Amino acid sequence: MSTGADFVVVANRLPVDLERLDDGTERWKHSPGGLVTALEPFLRARRGAWVGWPGVADIDVDPFDDGDLHLHPVPMSGSELRQYYEGFSNATLWPLYHDVVAPPVFDRSWWDAYQRVNQRFAEAAAEVSAEGATVWIQDYQLQLVPAMLRELRPDLRIGFFLHIPFPPVELFMQLPWRTEIVRGLLGADLVGFHRPGGAQNFLWLARRLGGFEPSRGQVGVRSRPGVVQVGDRTVRVGAFPISIASSELDQLARTKEVQQRAKEIRVELGNPRRIVLGVDRLDYTKGIDVRINALHELLAEERISVEEVAMIQVATPSRERVEHYKQMREHIEREVGRINGEFGRVGHPAVHYLHTSVDKKELAAFYCAADVMVVTPVRDGMNLVCKEYVACRNDLGGALVLSEFAGSAAELTSAFLVNPHNLDGVKDSLLAALDVEEAEGRRRMRALRRQVLTHDVDRWARSFLEALGAPFAD
Ligand code: ADP
Ligand code: G6P
Repeated sequence: MSTGADFVVVANRLPVDLERLDDGTERWKHSPGGLVTALEPFLRARRGAWVGWPGVADIDVDPFDDGDLHLHPVPMSGSELRQYYEGFSNATLWPLYHDVVAPPVFDRSWWDAYQRVNQRFAEAAAEVSAEGATVWIQDYQLQLVPAMLRELRPDLRIGFFLHIPFPPVELFMQLPWRTEIVRGLLGADLVGFHRPGGAQNFLWLARRLGGFEPSRGQVGVRSRPGVVQVGDRTVRVGAFPISIASSELDQLARTKEVQQRAKEIRVELGNPRRIVLGVDRLDYTKGIDVRINALHELLAEERISVEEVAMIQVATPSRERVEHYKQMREHIEREVGRINGEFGRVGHPAVHYLHTSVDKKELAAFYCAADVMVVTPVRDGMNLVCKEYVACRNDLGGALVLSEFAGSAAELTSAFLVNPHNLDGVKDSLLAALDVEEAEGRRRMRALRRQVLTHDVDRWARSFLEALGAPFAD
């Protein structure tokens, strides 16, 4: 057995992605998405090890240290990338767990690859973990790893956290390999979800598919976890809403550099009365089309004008070879073209569309410049973007329009909450946010900030690890 690390995170991706440039050189860049944003600072502070894929197929990278983090790359072949990552993870599980907003594909060869790659991750985790270590497995790509790892290393303390929604049972029951997934997750000592509803669904499935007798009480937020007795092991099932490094972002947003850049952005946009902002991975669950449609109708009805309201949509490229993502990108770009063609004026497009990812300071400047932030997913496990916006508004300015179908809506109740399927409602809320009276806007933002600043990612990780009984909670 190795002398390895005492605290290990296992996730599909490493926190850095290897990028191959056109001139043949390579460089590491920050990986996309909320999982990495949330976990990296926490693990770094505890000098942990991170097991994950380096972001490129058919490549072997030796383990290496990145500052205080020990990174342990797991290789993947081109066909595994297509079948396990693009296929089973992102064309089966992702749409199934997001309320089947796109039809999930059930393909047996993808399932085989999912099992194979999960086994490889389990073996890598077994190799880097010290005797009695705490191993924290992340997200839907690795749901079989808890049981596989327990088989290899019964001495470990194993936690699992799902970063996306856990679906209603009648949707989960569509999955041909539903029993295997439930049994895979039950290999952990603690299975965590964002919301009590997800935990409750899982407990029901542990009874129905696993044949166990789970506890029957209501699961609370960071309290009263459910319990499943699996042989001589007790598996806990709880709800732990994730968050961001709120005070760091609050500090960044207060810097002169960010404040100055926010002013420049407003000038570059031609000093509109209001700036509306969307920031997302380019994903069909994010409801980017919803906000563009709302803006389109408001312009057509002359309730706003392009001189008065400028919208910016920053969209990070994501999963570009998966069919639904390709279609969605084409659709969004067509809609942006249409709205700009119809309503744009010289110097005043209706939507400024940036198909790129931006660095932390630039993103903070966008948040500070935005009078209204629109976050309209049709389904989202949590959504960190809305929390980031709130953390950046120490001036108590700005207004948040937030979908009821984001996990964060349960916490950010002072936002302008909308049902993204009700376009008239979204339009009305967008107008209300654009015109909110200063005192009312400040009242709402103060309440939002109280929530986000007191419930940060540290609290999330500590509450999970405490419930796991791990020694890394402090
Ligand atoms: P998801 O995990 O589904 O991508 P989240 O809202 O939970 O959604 O997290 C997204 C993370 O990615 C946030 O930290 C956000 O700042 C970052 N992000 C999203 N879009 C961009 C972008 N265009 N440029 C830079 N960062 C982005
Ligand atoms: C979401 C998922 C993460 C994933 C991220 C980026 O946050 O929950 O597991 O890493 O999106 O997606 P990608 O497919 O590029 O890793």
